[in-house]
Amino acid sequence: MADGTISRAPELAWWQREAFYEVYPRSFQDSDGDGVGDLRGLLRRLDYLAWLGVGAVWVTPFYPSPQRDFGYDVSDYCAVDPTMGTLEDFQRLVEEAHRRGLRVVVDLVANHTSSEHPWFVESRKSRHSPRRGWYVWRDPGPRGGPPNNWLSFFGGPAWTFDPETGQYYLHQFLPEQPDLNYRNPEVVRAMEEVIRFWLDRGADGFRVDAAWLLVEDEHFRDEPPNPAWRPGMRERDRLLHPYTEDHPDTHQVLRRFRAVLESCHRDAVLIGEVYLPFAQLVRYYGTREEPECHFPFNFALVELPADRWTAHGLRAVVEAYEAARPEWAWPGWVLGNHDRPRVATRLGEDGSRLAHLLLLTLRGTPTLYYGDELGMVDGPVQPHRVRDWAGFREWGGRWCRDAARTPMQWDASHHAGFTTGEPWLPVNSDFPQRNVASQQADPRSFLHLVRRLLWMRRSHPALVAGGFVPVGSEEGVLAYRREHGPEAFLVALNFSTRPAHLAAQGEVVLSTHLDREGLERHVPLRPREGLVVRLRP
Ligand code: NOJ
Repeated sequence: MADGTISRAPELAWWQREAFYEVYPRSFQDSDGDGVGDLRGLLRRLDYLAWLGVGAVWVTPFYPSPQRDFGYDVSDYCAVDPTMGTLEDFQRLVEEAHRRGLRVVVDLVANHTSSEHPWFVESRKSRHSPRRGWYVWRDPGPRGGPPNNWLSFFGGPAWTFDPETGQYYLHQFLPEQPDLNYRNPEVVRAMEEVIRFWLDRGADGFRVDAAWLLVEDEHFRDEPPNPAWRPGMRERDRLLHPYTEDHPDTHQVLRRFRAVLESCHRDAVLIGEVYLPFAQLVRYYGTREEPECHFPFNFALVELPADRWTAHGLRAVVEAYEAARPEWAWPGWVLGNHDRPRVATRLGEDGSRLAHLLLLTLRGTPTLYYGDELGMVDGPVQPHRVRDWAGFREWGGRWCRDAARTPMQWDASHHAGFTTGEPWLPVNSDFPQRNVASQQADPRSFLHLVRRLLWMRRSHPALVAGGFVPVGSEEGVLAYRREHGPEAFLVALNFSTRPAHLAAQGEVVLSTHLDREGLERHVPLRPREGLVVRLRP
């Protein structure tokens, strides 16, 4: 490992070279004992993130919010929620992060506001309110109900009736999250101001929330039934979504957002949250002339069912993604986030070790989710402890996002070192064994694996800027070369439960078991082992 020897790969931008780390600030580190994580807590943990070897921290919303969706219901875009700290805390966080070479990316909750945002309060006052057109208001349908059949992600219709003014308003999420109307140029301008506000305060970029949902059909047509819907799928997926998702006009809005970034000359990044198949996903890069996102998140590895985490299944994913993207469009990979079951829960510990080796050696920007570097698993959230009712309804009660949002496990002390108070979500009971401190002390821990991978990636341009070349291998093994200039690596992941061999000779630089290094001939691969092998020139 070469801490400190960061390869600059000068032809690439920082957001291509560096790994991103998602912090869900409510659950990361509390500094004042109220049981809710905050910006000062995050500040205290910047040294850990720098030690780990990530280059950018994406902080999910910390703005004033009634917390119906834990910050994704913003009531003031240009301030900090008192439970999270102050604007000064944010500025200190940015300064201190920058001092350590870390960038800070913030969430842009562009699709909707809180129903308590002054814009909506004003909009709902009367049909003639100057802000009426900032949201999507419609008369009742012909039979008196909602204007059409659109469904909300969080259950029930995407429309709520407002008796005061006799109209319905649109919300793709909770009724407390009314959708902004991006057909109104004033709304676009207002969000551009929000972007400028955070750029002026040192933010290094934005993750655009719900980026594929910003604009809906202007004719408000009913959506057709989804013939593939089966019980167990989300309620909203009873319908197909040609009129509420991926509307062509969404791209104009994202182009405008990107143009603001470009005009500020800050080298800031725009990342889109987009859950769409590759053919549609890649349009969120825009074009070379009119760029949109630097990269839309690629959730293929988050969505891939556990039984398709095979050499064959993964090769198909990687090849389909490669084939869909224009050659200039930079890839991105994600294993988990605050909306989905944790990767170690989906794949088990050895599967998750393989998954991290994959994430950190594929070509493209990796994004890690806090705690996944410890192999943290979903917490058991008892029905009486559910906080995220929205997500509970979204998944029909079968899973709840709280499970993936339990507090970060720092050490074996009370509440895992997360808070001195009562944590807002229970700490997972495995914290006495699974925590940062104990894994720092164990050179073969999950944490050391992730850290070694992150630093290896940073030290070798081949693993960042290098091409990706699939290599033929035994059944059950996914293998590829990464090469750049004189350097070449072979990455091999044995997803099967049988031993295998690599037809290569080279120096094993890392095994997912962290127990072997050095020159080997006919490199053997143990069941469920992943290797990085440096090839002889
Ligand atoms: C996506 C966010 O990741 C999720 O947590 C949130 O509930 C929805 N967007 C609505 O903002």
